[in-house]
Amino acid sequence: MQVALVGLGVMGKNLALNLIEKGLTLVAYDKNPDAGAELLSCAKAQGMAERLHIVSDLNDMVRRLTPPRSILLLVPAGELVDKVCTELAEAGVDCDDIIVDCGNSNYKDGISRKLKYQNKFEFATMGISGGAEGARHGPAMMASGSEGGWERVEPWFEKVAASYKGESCFARVGQSASGHFVKMVHNGIEYALMQLIAEMYQLLRLGTERTPQQVAEIFNEWSEGALNSYLLSISSHILSLETTQGEALVDLIDNKVGAKGTGLWTAQNALELGIAVPSLVAAVQARHLTNACDTQAAKEMTYAAKPTNTVEIDVNELKEAFTLASLLAYRQGLALIKGASRAHQWKVDLSKTLQTWRAGCIIRADYLDNVAQGVDFIDGMQSESLALRKITGAAVASGLAFPVLTATQTYIATLTTPSNGHLVQAQRDYFGEHGIKTHSGEVCHLTDLVDIDEKVR
Ligand code: 6PG
Repeated sequence: MQVALVGLGVMGKNLALNLIEKGLTLVAYDKNPDAGAELLSCAKAQGMAERLHIVSDLNDMVRRLTPPRSILLLVPAGELVDKVCTELAEAGVDCDDIIVDCGNSNYKDGISRKLKYQNKFEFATMGISGGAEGARHGPAMMASGSEGGWERVEPWFEKVAASYKGESCFARVGQSASGHFVKMVHNGIEYALMQLIAEMYQLLRLGTERTPQQVAEIFNEWSEGALNSYLLSISSHILSLETTQGEALVDLIDNKVGAKGTGLWTAQNALELGIAVPSLVAAVQARHLTNACDTQAAKEMTYAAKPTNTVEIDVNELKEAFTLASLLAYRQGLALIKGASRAHQWKVDLSKTLQTWRAGCIIRADYLDNVAQGVDFIDGMQSESLALRKITGAAVASGLAFPVLTATQTYIATLTTPSNGHLVQAQRDYFGEHGIKTHSGEVCHLTDLVDIDEKVR
């Protein structure tokens, strides 16, 4: 079986080596000839160079491939994807061929590209997670679409992807460009979990005056049990690292957090679809706030630093709060996928989605089975629920910032305690006559229920 790959950056190069290792013959191209040369030398060093052909342009790539062709794109999201697709079409790619965009593209581009190229070739999308290591040894692969071409490549991707208890972390999760939507939400959850772990660290370090080493030990202990996850393990490792002078590595790093955009897209899509994912949105804004002092407007509004307090924290309760908050980040992401699937008629299979997240990806965690068990499981977490309330209260009392923790507590409290929406509805009708619905289901105005002699002006 022969596959082509365009784009030999960090992800492309590692996926290329993984594909060759699994027995595929690979035709590879990158506009930078050094990237091709580097891949060839890595393949040689690993004794796999006979199944690799580096080509010097896309015409050569198309000529070398025996139809029907299967071409993977690992180029940066945006215009470059269209540029490569157009060049491949001009080079002779045709309707029997499949081109799979494996970058971090916006799913909206995937939908329009499917239409744009429908008479030229099969355009499909697949989100890949796991960073360089994952790409090399087994990533999570969130593919979508049901059209021709997939049958050819699917058995191979099943081998290339990570596996969990013998089950591949490759799946076609739904129709159209839903694979990229699922990968985008994966990243939204990734942002929330990363920020949540950072908040646990903040509370332990500044709120209870522990050293990074001590926090690392606590995270490590949690990682050894049911809470084991990739992000918690790497955080524990990072916090344990010290320079030769004994300084904690984290203390050398600037606090401004970068982002490439997928977390923002998750938040934007959730807001547009009207699906509440407050923990995911809070994590995006938490990153924005770390950069806030860089904007001119913020410079003009710099606040004086305020003292913070130490607080009493029971580490077991913190662990319970963290457990529930982590599960709720996944549940919010799944709710968003479910809502988008319904709106776009993608028929996304949530259990297949979770199957792809079980290994290889950044948000892999041993407790994903609990996420799969759903709302009933979370409803039963009485002790964790109380712990989340208590820890959030103590965290707020410290005066430090805990955007994801507080957003998560607000999320679960909103869904499980009496609402105050009636007053907001009444306000809307009071000044705007937008209408209200009573408990009996009657749609009317405030003035239908009571006499209002004169409104407040
Ligand atoms: C992955 C990661 C990867 C990357 C994102 C987010 O699944 O391998 O999600 O895609 O970490 O690009 O990056 P930012 O934090 O820079 O937005």
